[in-house]
Amino acid sequence: MNNVDAILQAGLSAVAGVTDLIELEQVKARYLGKSGELTELLKQLGKLAPEERKAAGAVINQAKQAFEAAHNDKRDALNAAKLEAQLASESLDVTLPGRGAVGGGLHPVALTLERISGLFRTMGFEVADGPEIESDFYNFQALNIPENHPARAMADTFYVEGGEVLRTHTSPIQARFMENNQPPIKIVAPGRVYRVDSDATHSPMFHQMEGLWVEEGVSFADLKAVVTDFLRRFFERDDLQVRFRPSFFPFTEPSAEIDVLGERGWLEVGGCGMVHPNVLRIANIDPEKYTGFAFGIGLDRFAMLRYGVNDLRLFFENDLNFLKQFN
Ligand code: PHE
Repeated sequence: MNNVDAILQAGLSAVAGVTDLIELEQVKARYLGKSGELTELLKQLGKLAPEERKAAGAVINQAKQAFEAAHNDKRDALNAAKLEAQLASESLDVTLPGRGAVGGGLHPVALTLERISGLFRTMGFEVADGPEIESDFYNFQALNIPENHPARAMADTFYVEGGEVLRTHTSPIQARFMENNQPPIKIVAPGRVYRVDSDATHSPMFHQMEGLWVEEGVSFADLKAVVTDFLRRFFERDDLQVRFRPSFFPFTEPSAEIDVLGERGWLEVGGCGMVHPNVLRIANIDPEKYTGFAFGIGLDRFAMLRYGVNDLRLFFENDLNFLKQFN
């Protein structure tokens, strides 16, 4: 019994010296386990005289409780320290700048579209638009494209269930705008158009911009002046050669293709002409009083020329290494 206090003191200092939970449990076993030092003392109570047992038992139990209390305190402290360390290691500094915050940019076709509509706005044109899923009427009939015209063939046009089409050009926007507005009309209308066609220079979806100016006295000379002025400003070359090559469109008369002279010869950039009297009539505009011109240009072609891109498909593959170059 004289040993109890010495054993307890040794046990308490062992507990105090422990640095982790596993070690703590080992120390506990050494004192309170099946053959732990305090447990052994209890087992020896039987050897004492009956009148000594009670007091000795109380002393040993007190030591046992003191040890357990120290053990529990130590366990709580170690658990708290462990949690503390974990929180510290997982803490976030929300004030650090983010990684991988790469700046985005506009698509080269969008940049080209913005630039071209900006140029036309400075010449007094408003921007208009229309639906990509279009009725047969606006895509064809209102544009004087007869029932049997080759442009209606299945090979060119995407048909939608219910008889509508994916517009094959931006010209239906002309028809819609004239139907709802009387002259003077001066608009450009950019947008996506669709044709069954796919190779390095053709994509089933591409971009056009329509131009339309209807007013008393508008002539083919005005058409040439506006288009030439626009092209020279777009390509930033005052001496750019522009050619109007006679052509045919059902909705214009006379009609022409627009060519520019580049390093490798003449290059077609769009179509144009004087709005056909039938088209004006269908939209309830008096062709005896008003005349107008219209043109349609391929925006992707303009983007390719401006940025030196030789394959149209690059614009639609969404390859970041390509797109990043336009940021
Ligand atoms: N819509 C014609 C095309 O897609 C272009 C065009 C527009 C021609 C306006 C004349 C007038 O090819």
